[in-house]
Amino acid sequence: MARPPRLDQTLSRFGYCSRREAAGFIKAGRVCRGTLILRDPEERIEPVELLVDGQPIPFIERLLIVVNKPLGLVCSHDEKEGPAIYDILPEQWRRRDPQVSSIGRLDKDTSGLILITDDGVLNHRLCSPKHHEAKTYELETDRAIPVSAVELFVSGTLVLAGEDKPCLPATLEITAPNRARLILTEGKYHQVRRMLSAVGCTVMKLHRSQLGKLTLGDLAPGQWREVRVDEI
Ligand code: URA
Repeated sequence: MARPPRLDQTLSRFGYCSRREAAGFIKAGRVCRGTLILRDPEERIEPVELLVDGQPIPFIERLLIVVNKPLGLVCSHDEKEGPAIYDILPEQWRRRDPQVSSIGRLDKDTSGLILITDDGVLNHRLCSPKHHEAKTYELETDRAIPVSAVELFVSGTLVLAGEDKPCLPATLEITAPNRARLILTEGKYHQVRRMLSAVGCTVMKLHRSQLGKLTLGDLAPGQWREVRVDEI
């Protein structure tokens, strides 16, 4: 069995402070095991046994949340791309190491369901092309969606500009002349917008409402909740 991590490693892993700041943090009496105040940054204790500022450490195994992404935020960590989805999370979560990242991406102009985790293995597994979890999008277009798109999308023959392989069969339900629900089992770059563009429509509004069996429930834009891996 692996040795428990050192206190200074734990504090930086979970975003309380940097490894260098840990000695001062601990000296200030902020880390306890039960009622015992701990003093040695090199002491090895299981994180689950610790209290920091009187509170247990949150999300020890992994941080995994579902967020209702508001419009205008990017899923990239590159500050040059503008305000990011991570900016709305508590600062301590943003300082975790490994850092939190979205599982897949939604465009800046897309709202809705996005998962965020600090578990790189889980992220990699869920983003793999072998992972065919259904992604449901609600969309609005600038003009009436041609009924022929339903058959084209489900046929598995639509090749998007710049691609060599066709899109996997996708389900399009037209709910009003310029509104539809589209269910994809893959996630090519800007896929929904490009599929609609292939049938002459510009997507004006795009919202992801479901991923596999996971929905947003009553989460308002900008809100999140914890998710268990078996919910995905
Ligand atoms: N398809 C898009 O075009 N944009 C998204 O954000 C997600 C899917």
